Amino acid sequence: MILAIETSCDDTCAAIVESDGRRALSNAVHTQTEHARYGGVVPEVASRAHLERLDGVVEKALSDADLSLDEVGSVAVTTRPGLIGALLVGVAAAKGLAYARKLPLVPVNHLEGHIAAAYLTDPSLEPPFVALIASGGHTALYSVTTDRNMNLLGETLDDAAGEALDKGARMLGLGFPGGPEISRTARHGDPGRHDFPVGLRDRNNLDFSFSGLKTNLLYKLKAMDREQLQEELPHLAAGYEAAVVEALSRKLLRAIDLYDAPAAVVAGGVAANASLRRTLERECARTGPRLIIPPPDLCTDNAAMIGAAAPHSAAIAYPEYLSVSARSG
Ligand code: KG4
Ligand code: ZN
Repeated sequence: MILAIETSCDDTCAAIVESDGRRALSNAVHTQTEHARYGGVVPEVASRAHLERLDGVVEKALSDADLSLDEVGSVAVTTRPGLIGALLVGVAAAKGLAYARKLPLVPVNHLEGHIAAAYLTDPSLEPPFVALIASGGHTALYSVTTDRNMNLLGETLDDAAGEALDKGARMLGLGFPGGPEISRTARHGDPGRHDFPVGLRDRNNLDFSFSGLKTNLLYKLKAMDREQLQEELPHLAAGYEAAVVEALSRKLLRAIDLYDAPAAVVAGGVAANASLRRTLERECARTGPRLIIPPPDLCTDNAAMIGAAAPHSAAIAYPEYLSVSARSG
């Protein structure tokens, strides 16, 4: 059994995953609510909250799986990328637990973790496949060719998709995190009522850009008074969300086509978006590739995905890992 720990941003997470990384026995997440009133994650607040919560979350992961520490065979932990102070809390805890039990430690890359959530969703999945990661910090397309080989095909030139949703929500006076707030507000809106630009839409590449969309919303809002904004809010949210969904799905479908991929994986917090899921399910059903989108709780940050990535990452034997550290990038 693998005990996995994830503290790269504002979720304090621990999970128990079977040693082949294909089944999670538990997946405990404490989502920090301290950040909501700031409209974004405050790094120092996140580190301190991880410190306070992590022990309890690890205990919950063990008890939910009905397991004791004696039955754990290795400890996996996110070492990069993320908020450095937040990562350090998880790395220190993982090293301490592994060292005390003379267990191997498996440093895991957070982005590889997001993709590995697909192995928990479909345990028969094997490379090759293309993968779209769309989260609050990253938006990129990869071709996964073997167990340990991810090639970057394209990425955002400015904001991440989740960041664009978070910033858009803030401009619209909605709460944080913005993705779910925009979706909720968009439910009764008409996405075609306002014209929003889809960044790099017709550019023959696999990159993304969301800064133009954000600026476009800003100008639309400047031209409206309070009353108009109230009236237009659902339509603005729907149009904005649709532009993000179109940018993501268009480039993923292009990558599937270019690489003749038999399967596609969508991961990261934005993959929880219902409209993106519907669009891709419809398109992939029509064009053929197998589509794997983890359920929403495996799309947003969690530790089960880190445990799932562990068999694809290099383990460090006891006691060689004391100098292992975290990296922000
Ligand atoms: O992967 P994640 O939990 O954390 C990072 O590693 O960044 O992604 C968080 C991002 C946030 O920007 C949030 O607004 C977005 O994912 N998100 C969503 C939804 N749920 C979370 N975006 C659109 N629709 C959702 N349902
Ligand atoms: Zn993430």
